Amino acid sequence: MPTMDVDGKKVVWDGKKMILQACLDAGMEIPHYCYHQGLSIVASCRICLVEIESPDPKDPAKLVKVPKLVPSCQTPAVDGMKVHSISPKSVANQKAVMEFLLLNHPLDCPVCDQAGECHLQDYSYQYGRSESRFDEDKAKKPKKDIGKHVVLYSDRCIMCTRCVRFTREISGTGELAVFGRGHREEIDVFQGRSLDNPLSGNVIDICPVGALLDKDFLFTQRVWFLKKTPSISPFSSGGENISIEHNQGRVYRIKPRFNADVNKWWISDDIRYGWDFIHNNRLQTPAAKGVPQELSAAQSIGQLDQAVKKNAATPGATILVLNAFDTTEEMFLAAQWIRRIDPQAWLTLAEPKIDGEDQVFKNPTTGAVTYTLRAEKAPNRRGAEKVLAKLAGNVCKLADVQGKIKAGQIKTAMVLTDPFGHADASLQTAVAGVDTLLVLSTRPDGLVSQASLALPVCTWAEKSGVFENYSGLIQAFKQAIAPLENTRSTGSIFWDLMDLAGTYDPAAVRRMMSELGMTEYAAVALPEHHEKIELMQFTDL
Ligand code: SF4
Ligand code: FES
Repeated sequence: MPTMDVDGKKVVWDGKKMILQACLDAGMEIPHYCYHQGLSIVASCRICLVEIESPDPKDPAKLVKVPKLVPSCQTPAVDGMKVHSISPKSVANQKAVMEFLLLNHPLDCPVCDQAGECHLQDYSYQYGRSESRFDEDKAKKPKKDIGKHVVLYSDRCIMCTRCVRFTREISGTGELAVFGRGHREEIDVFQGRSLDNPLSGNVIDICPVGALLDKDFLFTQRVWFLKKTPSISPFSSGGENISIEHNQGRVYRIKPRFNADVNKWWISDDIRYGWDFIHNNRLQTPAAKGVPQELSAAQSIGQLDQAVKKNAATPGATILVLNAFDTTEEMFLAAQWIRRIDPQAWLTLAEPKIDGEDQVFKNPTTGAVTYTLRAEKAPNRRGAEKVLAKLAGNVCKLADVQGKIKAGQIKTAMVLTDPFGHADASLQTAVAGVDTLLVLSTRPDGLVSQASLALPVCTWAEKSGVFENYSGLIQAFKQAIAPLENTRSTGSIFWDLMDLAGTYDPAAVRRMMSELGMTEYAAVALPEHHEKIELMQFTDL
């Protein structure tokens, strides 16, 4: 493996890499603004300049000092090279760049949303001067509303052009550009356009300063109060890796987590802004025909148990409708329980919503696919299908349920619903006229108003488990916040109904699944690198 010496430390890398990337991968920081691993290299900010000594091509044992500083983001790492990022010459450059960047930068960190995760702020502590020598008036630039989700504070911009390159190379929409020259340079949208592509929120993440800010998050929280929980998007079958950022039981924003095999650094605006169902329009008490019931957790479980057992003497009189928004563990427990009561109970799956076709984003220059917005709007259809295949026996399509109810075959239906109400209308049609309707729901939908008993359950942010994405990738996610008062996870309800000891444990359910031959669930865990974002957020984004 090639090796180089960076400030006296050994850095090893694989394949072709630039000096900066090899250092970042090895856990060494060289200051950088314009460089982003997911974008083309422009080497414009100049803060990453370093001194290098490179092996002489004619005599590789001899090192030749390159007379000028070179951009580490754009200079390939070479085996045997020596890099000096903290030499007096490199440090003098870092200080000079910081001084230039701060000439016109407002001193508004106390009111800036980016404070606490701003690399201008961080680098000014590490590489900047303690006081400014600039005593002229700072150039004043306007605040601009440039899109549905994004606001631009022009005077905070350091012209790294990451946002411009994102719209050109990743979303392929090209709404942003640099206008003007010199100290009048500004980022803006082209006349008559706005930043409104389905990936627009990503420019907020990659802006290294507080120039591009999220309207949805603006002035709601100081970032140092936020806790980050690794999670998986519940909005589509893509399995995008996300971080739920929350404080005191409330979610404030969702950010992407880097996963090279799934979503890289990006998420769609649907994911970033679609989470308000966690805190709004929730079912918060058990209900019978829409009327709230005062039931303890034990009473709710008891009533659910009795209601299912009422018609269980007739084999095949019960149906369980799974939903691809629940975790695989939850669906497995639910199906196991219903089949324990009635081995001939029917199982089916509420059809996930398909919203047109997959939307594929490509780099217009290279043609490479940069992001795919999945049309299938449910996170775990593959998991649900695996449970149905494993439990087998009486499995039918949702479309066939109404016929079985009309024929008097099915008398009890237990329905797991989705948190968006996607399937509410089709489920109401499917189970119309059933003798006993039992519903587990996060929201007070039409189905809830018809149910003999409806119990409130958690959203994905309030529980943990696994989802399996469109390609069969099984990914675990953690509980971010405590369940809303009076709600509990679907898994914990079936855990109690199964009379299992202790509290609901998704890992224990995965072991049960594995013992029954679903061995792919045995080793599921949160991968190590998913935690890395806590330490290296800027690099990972
Ligand atoms: S707005 Fe942010 S990302 Fe865009 S050029 Fe300015 S500093 Fe860079
Ligand atoms: S990060 Fe290298 S020049 Fe900007």
